[in-house]
Amino acid sequence: MKKIALLTSGGDAPGMNAAIRAVVRTAIYFGMEVYGVERGYAGLIDGDLIPLEMRSVSNIVQCGGTRLRSARCLEMKTKEGQEKAVATLKKYGIEGLVVIGGDGSFRGAEVLARDYGVPTIGIPGTIDNDLEYTDYTLGFDTAVNTCLDIINKLRDTMTSHERISVVEVMGRHCGDIALYSGIASGAEIIVVPEIGFDMDDIVNRINRSRANGKHSNIIIIAEGVMSAEKFSEILQERTTYDVRPTCIGHVQRGGSPSMADRMLAAQFGNRAVRLLKDGIGNRVVGIRDNKIIDMDIIEAVSMKKTFNNELYETLQMISM
Ligand code: ADP
Ligand code: F6P
Repeated sequence: MKKIALLTSGGDAPGMNAAIRAVVRTAIYFGMEVYGVERGYAGLIDGDLIPLEMRSVSNIVQCGGTRLRSARCLEMKTKEGQEKAVATLKKYGIEGLVVIGGDGSFRGAEVLARDYGVPTIGIPGTIDNDLEYTDYTLGFDTAVNTCLDIINKLRDTMTSHERISVVEVMGRHCGDIALYSGIASGAEIIVVPEIGFDMDDIVNRINRSRANGKHSNIIIIAEGVMSAEKFSEILQERTTYDVRPTCIGHVQRGGSPSMADRMLAAQFGNRAVRLLKDGIGNRVVGIRDNKIIDMDIIEAVSMKKTFNNELYETLQMISM
C-alpha cells in the first residue's frame, strides 16, 4: 500500500494527536503518502482531505483534542453517505484508511471494510473505555487522572464542611471511568449502570463511615445511571448530612495526554500502519495483558463490554 488516509471520529480523546503523529511518521518511514481527513466521516463525505507531511505533525504529541477535528455524522449511517465517502477515497486513490475513534466510529469503519472492500484499521480512541477487545482505549487514562485531580479538590472542601459530594463522570453506558476514579481517589461509593444501586445500602454505608470517624463522603456516579443533581436530590431526602452535586463534564475530555496514553498512541499508530503496509486491513489494534494486539474488526465490534466485578468488590472492601 502506498497511499493511506486517517481520520478521528466521535468524541475526541487525549492522545488522538499523538496517534495521528505516530501514523503519519510511520507511514512516511515506509515511504507511504498520508492524507488527513478533517472532521471525521463528515470530512470524508465532503472530500475534506489534506496531505500530511513529517512537519505537519510536529509539536502535537503533548496536545489534547484532535488537530484533524472530529464530528458525529449521521449521514455516514446512510447508504448515500457511505457511497460518497467511498467516492472520496477513490478520487484520491486512497488504498487504506485508519479510523481513530470509539465503538460508533468502528461501526462506520466496519461498513467500509465489509460492504465496500476498503481496507480499514481501527485505533480505539475514546475516554469511555467501553470496548471489550482491548484492556484500555486511548484517552481513558488521562480522563481518569483529570477526574482524580477534581475529586481530590472536592475532598478538601467536603471534609472541611462534613458534606457528601456526588460527582458525575462520563462514560456513556460504561462505568469504567467511575470505577477507576472511585478506586484511585478513595471514594466511598460508586454508582455504575452495570450494577445499579440500592439507596438503603448507600445510606447505611455513609452512616457506618461517619460512625467510624469519617468527616466526608465521595460518591462517584456514572452519567449512564443519572445526573449528579438528580441523585443528590434523592439522597438529600434520606440524610441529614449536606449533599452537593458536581458534574465534571467535558473538562475530563481535554488536556495533555498522560504518559500511558502517549505510549498507547505511539504503539497503536505504529501497528496500524505496519498492518496496512503489509496489505492487511479490516483489523483493530488494542492492548491486552500489556501486549499490543490486533484482531478482526467485525469480531471486535460484536463483543459485549463486560464489567470488572472484582475491581468493584475491591472498592467495596477498601473504601469504608
Ligand atoms: P464513538 O466513535 O466515540 O463511539 P459515535 O458513536 O458518536 O462516537 O460514532 C461516531 C460516528 O461514527 C457517528 O457520528 C457516525 O458518523 C459513525 N457511525 C456510528 N455508527 C455507525 C454505523 N452503524 N454505521 C456507519 N457509521 C456509523
Ligand atoms: O464518548 C465520549 C463521550 O464523552 C461520552 O462519555 C459522553 O456520553 C459523550 O461523549 C458526550 O458527547 P458530546 O460531547 O457530544 O456531548
